[in-house]
Amino acid sequence: MRDSSILPGKSLGKQTEESFGIYIHIPYCLQRCTYCDFATYVHTEIMPSQKYIELVKKELSLNKKVFPFQQLNTLYFGGGTPSLLPAEQIVDLITSLKQNDYVLSKNAEVTIEINPATIDERKINAYLENGINRFSVGAQSFSDRLLKMVHREHNAQQTIETLKLLESYKLNYSFDILFALPTQTLEELRRDLDIASTFNMTHASPYCLTVPEGHPLSKDRPLDIEQIEMFQIIHQTLVQQGFYRYEISNYAKPGYESRHNMLYWTDQPFWGLGLSAHSYSKHTPWGTRFWNPSNINLYEKELSQRSVSDSFPLNENNSEILGISQSLTDFCYTSLRLSRGLSWSELESKFGASTLEKIHSISKPLVDQQLLQLKDRCYSLTDKGVFISNQIFEKFTFLKDDFKSDLT
Ligand SMILES: C[S@@+](CC[C@H](N)C(=O)[O-])C[C@H]1O[C@@H](n2cnc3c(N)ncnc32)[C@H](O)[C@@H]1O
Ligand code: SF4
Repeated sequence: MRDSSILPGKSLGKQTEESFGIYIHIPYCLQRCTYCDFATYVHTEIMPSQKYIELVKKELSLNKKVFPFQQLNTLYFGGGTPSLLPAEQIVDLITSLKQNDYVLSKNAEVTIEINPATIDERKINAYLENGINRFSVGAQSFSDRLLKMVHREHNAQQTIETLKLLESYKLNYSFDILFALPTQTLEELRRDLDIASTFNMTHASPYCLTVPEGHPLSKDRPLDIEQIEMFQIIHQTLVQQGFYRYEISNYAKPGYESRHNMLYWTDQPFWGLGLSAHSYSKHTPWGTRFWNPSNINLYEKELSQRSVSDSFPLNENNSEILGISQSLTDFCYTSLRLSRGLSWSELESKFGASTLEKIHSISKPLVDQQLLQLKDRCYSLTDKGVFISNQIFEKFTFLKDDFKSDLT
């Protein structure tokens, strides 16, 4: 067993303008959880994982010049369940990145999502030896009743054993909690948090169950007022334990914020490889988003038609070249999700002084209603505002017509 000395964390510097990261999607799961609509398959209903890894490697070598960066500040294996694959296949992808001239920066954050009962010491050793230094554990709940109800494969005891294994290596890990499940009680949630508090995670992501109307899990959910109480209980418990909310659904011990997810929220470029993966580049004046198909057969077919290129084969079905209105909307939404908020100076330098004025006129009434606060020339959600964040974000939705006068 080894004691990892390469943990990212307090020594990591502030996110810089040049940050760049790669996301690799691994669409394999033991089963399909009832609530999940991510692009992922039961492992027996998709091609063997080695074949999928070869496809991702092909995508990497075909498009490696799409982004001008060779240095990775972050690398993230998400899913799906990356830990379900033999560790050698994850290592194969890391090796392939290196063979394609990608270099992990000195303090790179390299994360893998792991599900309970899918890892062992051998896998952990292989991950650590190849630079993985952050683990995101899909714990969700310690209630066997609720885990069964949403068709999770693991039970609470297996989650506890997985967490103990990570602790025995003194690893840097994050923890996903799912709440507001049908019939879930406040006592059950408190119990989840009590058990969680016996572990030393550095990061926690509480997710409120989100399902569309008519979904089998949309019945018997806690009332809105109870869901708010659940969120408050989670918030208070985590804050008491030394976490702070740096993003609406993410808490960290100081210095342990997810640097990869920060790329998404701070207008930084990233490349997504694999099924359904999304990318963001700043090649065009207001940025471009592009994405891969989310059906495995289409992904395979599309790749077979791609050739070596230093530009992604953009078309109207797989990309969006942003205009100023969409770019500003995205910038406001993502910035307001963060506790540090929407910075006047960043807004002005990207969108100009007249746009900053527009933002002031939208924000001032919200500050008066104590839904936003102004601190260090940044607007951010108040505790009250967090609970109606979607309604607040709507006010920062911009259309092309909002910029007509600026363009003439
Ligand atoms: C897509 S999963 C991948 C990680 C891992 N496979 C797992 O299940 O823990 C990432 C996170 O999204 C959460 N998630 C997926 N669907 C959700 C939904 N409908 N509402 C809330 N959270 C959801 C999962 O619970 C998990 O914590
Ligand atoms: S294990 Fe994770 S990715 Fe797979 S179906 Fe369940 S929630 Fe979705």
